[in-house]
Amino acid sequence: MRKLLVGGNWKQNGTVKFAHDFSQNVLNKAKFDANKVEVVVSPSTLHLLTAKQALQNHIQVSAQNISQYKNGAYTGELSAEMLNDAGIHWTILGHSERRHVFGESDKVVGEKVKHALAHNLKVIACIGEKLDERESGKTQVVNERQLNAIRELVNDWSNVVIAYEPVWAIGTGKTASPEQAQEVHDQLRQWLKSNVSADAANATRILYGGSVTEKNADELIAKRDVDGFLVGGAALKEGFLDIIRAAN
Ligand code: G3H
Repeated sequence: MRKLLVGGNWKQNGTVKFAHDFSQNVLNKAKFDANKVEVVVSPSTLHLLTAKQALQNHIQVSAQNISQYKNGAYTGELSAEMLNDAGIHWTILGHSERRHVFGESDKVVGEKVKHALAHNLKVIACIGEKLDERESGKTQVVNERQLNAIRELVNDWSNVVIAYEPVWAIGTGKTASPEQAQEVHDQLRQWLKSNVSADAANATRILYGGSVTEKNADELIAKRDVDGFLVGGAALKEGFLDIIRAAN
């Protein structure tokens, strides 16, 4: 059985006070079986340590992005070494906002995943198609292109979690239906089987992200290949606890 994972991506939101108070007063109240579910929250870089220090150990903390380079002259970036030094063991990579707002190519995302794994970080690698790509029947092609860019550089997927986040569902209130999510997750698992290994296909968690709330979490998590969520907007509210409960 795969351990489920519920991730909360705070994106570019919050204050120092929010990071502290929400962690201490809300997230610390989350009740879940740690043998069954992992919870990983991802504040902005500035708020990572505030959240980490306020959180009890059963909730982990993740960066939202890192550089593909070692420490050095890379103004504005965050390195894997810095996360290691701070005791932070996770990073999200390849989020659609990194790809489509900041222009990160598939190749750069692949390099970042390779670099993060080489520095013992666990990675939530995000993939997903845009609306025009779905409407023109290219969902699978786009997802596989994005995964192939990682596979070219990464052999061991044991510290990789895939987050399928259709871009048209992110922040729009238009969630993929449970059937749409399951269809894509099944394709992704088949891709892992054919392109990485049967073991990787069995073991790799595939999260769904895109307008997940406490109202739709139960029906999404009921699908066989949905192994958890990467939650955006709803991860900033108390209802996040109900999303965790749905996975538990
Ligand atoms: O990383 C999270 C996703 O972008 C989903 O965001 O839940 O606000 O749609 P959302």
